[in-house]
Formats: sequence, structure tokens, C-alpha cells
Amino acid sequence: MPISDPDALLEVSRIEAGYGKISVLHGVSLRIAAGEVVSLLGPNGAGKTTLLRAITGLLPLTAGTVRFDGRDMRDAGPRGSARAGLVHVVEGHRIFTQLSVTDNLLLAAYDLPRRERPVRIEEALAAFPEIAAKRHDRGGALSGGQQQMLAVAQGLVRRPRLLLLDEPSAGLSPVLVGRVLGAVADLRAAGTAVLLVEQLIDKALAVSDRVYAMAQGRVVLEAKADESGLHERLERAYFGQTVEA
Ligand SMILES: Nc1ncnc2c1ncn2[C@@H]1O[C@H](COP(=O)(O)OP(=O)(O)O)[C@@H](O)[C@H]1O
Ligand SMILES: [Mg+2]
Repeated sequence: MPISDPDALLEVSRIEAGYGKISVLHGVSLRIAAGEVVSLLGPNGAGKTTLLRAITGLLPLTAGTVRFDGRDMRDAGPRGSARAGLVHVVEGHRIFTQLSVTDNLLLAAYDLPRRERPVRIEEALAAFPEIAAKRHDRGGALSGGQQQMLAVAQGLVRRPRLLLLDEPSAGLSPVLVGRVLGAVADLRAAGTAVLLVEQLIDKALAVSDRVYAMAQGRVVLEAKADESGLHERLERAYFGQTVEA
């Protein structure tokens, strides 16, 4: 890979990060082009969530670089990242159950110009008609799946150029998983790039252009989502073996 890829929207180069003395990411590189949907797979503890945190400034890098839209994000922090269009819906994100659906979305729009907020809220609700129908209800009145849709909608309010989704379908019934991943397919059709962390491999691949797998803090596989033999390669990757292309 060249030092800097002019076509990449996100370019992560050899980053290292961790928690205190515990290093978790050992030289992770990946890139995402504008409009591309990329799955990030791997077993529990592989470092997927840590990678997303490092990308959006929730965790400092100890080495390497994150470039977004040609800009070094080192000093951007989570807010600067979100403002640049690099939006992270964190793992297990909880909505405010006492606030209405609309107010939850308004919170996500807090730093946008006042007249822009209703526009963004309508855009986000358009992605999820079933929560749009409950816009005046309290968040707590939504089903678990609808609450997860609302969490994704909070990310959409930012009008992301790249949306990072960390297990948005965790704990959902198959029907609701389909609904949430359907929203990813819609984003793809609309030209929004997505980095999707997902446990359900087949469902993730079905909405993705490419895939990375991580194990033990390293990228161990990169492939197109429709490559033949991908399943076998992923299985081996899950056990931490580097898999030849
Ligand atoms: N806040 C934390 N403090 C210390 N270690 C952590 C913390 N969060 C995660 N880890 C460790 O970092 C490693 C990667 O975790 P994580 O990024 O959550 O993996 P994944 O999202 O792939 O399941 C694991 O060994 C985990 O125990
Ligand atoms: Mg995780």
C-alpha cells in the first residue's frame, strides 16, 4: 500500500493503542473508500471495539496515523471526528428512555445550527419508518430493536460520510437484525460509507463490499465480500492465523 492513498476516505496506518499498559492493537492498517461498506469481523476480544475507539479519538494512539478525508485526525478527538463526518455509534449505545424519540435525535444534533436540526431529524427518521411513527413516544416505550434503530438514527443525524457501527444488531431477533442491516444497505445505496462490526458473518457480508477480520489485535484477513472460499478463510482467520489471499 502506498504511504498515502488518495482514494481512501479513511486511511488507518499501522496504529497501536490500548488501555494503560495493556496494548491491544498491534499495527492495524485498513482503508475505506467513499461510499464503501466494509465489515469488520473477528472473535470476541479481537480488538474491534478498541479499533473503532482509536479511529474516532475515544482512545489515544500510541503509534500510527488515522487520516480521514485527507486530514490527520490525531488531535480531532471524538467531537472533531463527528464534525468531520466520521460518526461512531458505540457498542451497546443506550438511548435516553425518559426522552421522546425526537428529543433523543435533537440531542445528537445539539451542535448543529438551530434551523438545520429539524431537517436532520427528518432525514434520520426517514431511514426508520417504524420509529418515525413513534416520534412523540418516550424512548423507553420502544422495543429493544427499535431502540437500536434509534441509536443508529442518532448517528445519521450527523449526516455521516463514514458511519462506524459497533454490533448494532446485538441481541436482536432475526427479523430486527434484518431491519437494522437493511438500513446499512440503504446507506450504501445512498453513497454513505459504513464500517460495520458484526457477529453474524453472512448477514454482514450480504450488505458489504469488503471485509476485514481481526484476531488478537491484528488484521488477519482482507477480502472482497463476494470472494469464493471466504467462509473457510474467515474460519481460519478467527483462530488467529494470517490467511494468504
Ligand atoms: N476498558 C478496557 N480496559 C482494559 N482492557 C480492555 C478494555 N476494553 C477492552 N479491553 C481488552 O482489549 C481487548 C480487545 O477488546 P475489544 O476491543 O473490546 O474486542 P472486541 O470488540 O473485538 O470484542 C480484550 O482483551 C479486552 O479484554
Ligand atoms: Mg466489541
